[in-house]
Amino acid sequence: MLSSRTTRLSVKSVVPFRAFLTSWAHVPQGPPDAILGVTDAFKKDQHPKKMNLGVGAYRDDRGKPCVLNAVRKAEEMILKDKLDKEYLPITGLASFTKEAALLAYGKDSEPLGEGRIAVTQSISGTGALRIGGTFLNRFYQHNKKIFVPTPTWGNHHAVFRDSGLEVGQYRYYDKLTNGLDFNGFVEDIQNAPKNSIFLLHACAHNPTGVDPTPQQWDQLSKIIKERNHFTFFDMAYQGFASGDTDRDAYAIRKFVSDGHRLCLSQSFAKNMGLYAERVGSFSIISDNPKEKAAIDSQLKILIRPMYSNPPVNGSRIASYVLSNPELNKEWLGEVKTMADRIITMRDKLKKHLVQDFESKHNWNHITDQIGMFCYTGLKPEQVERLTNDFHVYLTKDGRISIAGISSHNVKYLAEAIHEVTK
Ligand SMILES: Cc1ncc(COP(=O)(O)O)c(C=O)c1O
Repeated sequence: MLSSRTTRLSVKSVVPFRAFLTSWAHVPQGPPDAILGVTDAFKKDQHPKKMNLGVGAYRDDRGKPCVLNAVRKAEEMILKDKLDKEYLPITGLASFTKEAALLAYGKDSEPLGEGRIAVTQSISGTGALRIGGTFLNRFYQHNKKIFVPTPTWGNHHAVFRDSGLEVGQYRYYDKLTNGLDFNGFVEDIQNAPKNSIFLLHACAHNPTGVDPTPQQWDQLSKIIKERNHFTFFDMAYQGFASGDTDRDAYAIRKFVSDGHRLCLSQSFAKNMGLYAERVGSFSIISDNPKEKAAIDSQLKILIRPMYSNPPVNGSRIASYVLSNPELNKEWLGEVKTMADRIITMRDKLKKHLVQDFESKHNWNHITDQIGMFCYTGLKPEQVERLTNDFHVYLTKDGRISIAGISSHNVKYLAEAIHEVTK
């Protein structure tokens, strides 16, 4: 009697407990993030010459992260101004979104002057892409498929898939030349169904560092227009490619002046070094102010249940830097300094490979490519040797972040690359 009651009691108490324990048993272990995994492995390595060329963040010539002077000064001004911490509107800080749009589209932009561009602050570039993906999924009438380049920033696939879009691919990189597969690119644009959505990197393509020339952009704009495709520009590196924010906006401004009704994601992570502040913006060009107002209203409806409204600190910093003439001038100088350091590292890496180590390979792509990343053309087994034998960490596709190279270790890197490619 006693024993059967004990059994009944234990069954009652065990069943709900077990049910609780097994609720998530079906959740599979996911793979680690490809880029952050590289940093984890780098951190564990104790070798004095180890190099992390995986992460896409700027480092100075001592290999240290740096905060720009213009940003520090803006922070001091903000502190002095004793501003409040009230909620921002759903679409963010108006003084920031106005300046962000000016930076991208230019002060002479027709749709900007005519009040036809809907803009919202976003959680950096990733958030802008997600807002854009969701907006297109909700309101783009022709189809729900976005074409991205092969290869592209890995997160594009996940962002657009999670926005509910189907993701297709177009040819972009030519492995044989380590340059642009322009003919393949054009063919894929022409063969895609009319009114397709194309994601284009505005400058400093990640991961390849390969950009179309201005003449090629002109042609692309024409062909995309002829096919009635819709363009989604991702501009995560304005200023980083050439050192000049206007030059890097060439593609966007050309497309706009050719009459494309495009949308745009902007990030201030790299060009202002505001990585962790998560400052970005999403904008979309409409036909008239009434249409813009409707889009604005839908952006609010879309954003409100996602994160309600964006953080204020980073967008305040960016708005001070963009709107204060002295800070702006200093910032543009600092963007140029960062871009120039990257260009210098490209030159030195190539020079060491070709002149000092007399590598027989063609390394012209190191200096032909642009921006923070270089697609070296190294094969996975060569990448593995770089890491195992030389403590140089990079992603398996052979992409290196030039920002991770300094004048102190560029020769060591060239020697390591030479050894694994002999
Ligand atoms: C091509 C591209 N788009 C967007 C982003 C988004 O960056 P963030 O969300 O940090 O602004 C990155 C970052 O590496 C990128 O390379």
